[in-house]
Amino acid sequence: MDVVSTITAIRDKRRGIMGSVGFIPTMGALHDGHLALVREAKRNDTVVIVSIFVNQPQFDSQQDFARYPRDLKRDLELLEREKIDFVFVPPCEEIYPAGFNTWVEVKQISKELEGRARPGHFCGVATIVTKLFNIIQPTRAYFGQKDAQQVLVISKMVTDLNIDVEIIVVPTLREADGLAMSSRNLLLNARERQAASILYRALTVARQMHNRGTVDSAEIRNAMISCLKQEPLVTIEYVEITTADTLDELPIIDRTALVSLAVRIGSVRLIDNILLYPPK
Ligand code: PAJ
Repeated sequence: MDVVSTITAIRDKRRGIMGSVGFIPTMGALHDGHLALVREAKRNDTVVIVSIFVNQPQFDSQQDFARYPRDLKRDLELLEREKIDFVFVPPCEEIYPAGFNTWVEVKQISKELEGRARPGHFCGVATIVTKLFNIIQPTRAYFGQKDAQQVLVISKMVTDLNIDVEIIVVPTLREADGLAMSSRNLLLNARERQAASILYRALTVARQMHNRGTVDSAEIRNAMISCLKQEPLVTIEYVEITTADTLDELPIIDRTALVSLAVRIGSVRLIDNILLYPPK
């Protein structure tokens, strides 16, 4: 496995590759969710490249950026075990040199859900992913359904800017109690970690009601909120039921719906989602 830290070096490596390139952008603190993306890329592509870069512009605050978990040594060990070909680990100045002043903004879809709670977040994401796509020029790039809105933002950006890459979406990997794997789970203490299982329980309430024939979003949303409120450590940021492709409000579930939520447990912000499909 080659660990590369400059744009010039990764471009040189890229030029030498025959066959397809699978690319997985990450911010490190890798877990099995990331590795599910890596394994999917290994199945599909000749060569797999992973990037590890904690992208400051997509964070809400300096404090959130500073305390984001980092463990490069362990990340590289995990990737070595997966037999990854190249890992791109640029320092911050390589990506954002002094005077950097160009930003990518996907307008409408970035404003909903996470965008409302975290203004500027998706501009940071779209900009770094554009830069990484330009540097790596992957055949396919892999993203997790865990960040459903990120997938929509990146897909729209790829279409609108005619970027020649296929976006592959990988289902959310969960812990035994249903909690979606996330680097931020490392920031939870034992009591908070226990409380965090309520996110998936609330999503399960939605799935069960929908399976039993409830199509009224308000009814499902209220039941989810009641479920979340049973856990005193949880502060709800949003619980939304929207269309899965445009994130428009969906009062009656008559097509595929995205049920998404964001909560705070202590000082840790967690998000999760599921899709509900209309009955056949
Ligand atoms: P990060 O949070 O490190 O996630 C990297 C990729 O792993 C994303 O596509 C994310 O959706 C996916 N992922 C995370 N947890 C997952 C899980 N439990 N199951 C399946 N996939 C999961 O997302 C980012 O980094 C950044 O925004 C990035 C795209 C790298 C741009 O900076």
